[in-house]
Amino acid sequence: MNKTKIAVFVSGGGTNLQALIDAEKSGIITSGEIVLVVATNDKAYALTRAREAGIDAVVVDKKALGTQEAFESALIEVLDDYAIDVIVLAGFMTILSGDFTRRYDKRILNVHPSLIPSFCGEGYYGLRVHEEALKYGVKVTGATVHYVNEIADGGEIIMQKAVYIQDGDTPEVLQRRVMQEAEWQILPLAVELVSSKWRK
Ligand code: GAR
Repeated sequence: MNKTKIAVFVSGGGTNLQALIDAEKSGIITSGEIVLVVATNDKAYALTRAREAGIDAVVVDKKALGTQEAFESALIEVLDDYAIDVIVLAGFMTILSGDFTRRYDKRILNVHPSLIPSFCGEGYYGLRVHEEALKYGVKVTGATVHYVNEIADGGEIIMQKAVYIQDGDTPEVLQRRVMQEAEWQILPLAVELVSSKWRK
């Protein structure tokens, strides 16, 4: 049986990409292999992580392409070139249209740094999610891995993990703890689960 071919979409630091690379090396991910990294900008440190792991990486620049249609056509072209089965959004800061997500129904996963349906949807990304959680005063937050559909952070939930707020937490401290205790733990497990379903 072939392994499921995975593309990871990134926009920034790529610590979740690193967690996936490490999980493949350590045997947590066995049903799939990361064959491609797609970044939305050429400054993303995630590109260096991909290069160091020997994974092909491409930049698909939305601004340069002008429209959502042109951007998504360029994505589809490269995904077809690599015969990608499963897409992982790992800190990917661009919304995908319904046309795109329907094409890959139950084959796109996203990691979000809160317990959905709290602190999610349009405008909730990165540090802002943790700022809002602290401002609200919740005592528990966490991370969610879910399928991606046309509604921002609205697809079916695959896995979640809770993280307690601690006295003195700043958005930065909380962001780091949510990554360490939740995102980097559940994302590889969810990717293995979904990869095992699409293996041919
Ligand atoms: C992660 O915390 C991820 O959950 C979040 O951005 C960060 C990216 O970090 N994603 C979102 O907020 C999406 N709505 P990374 O580039 O180091 O993986």
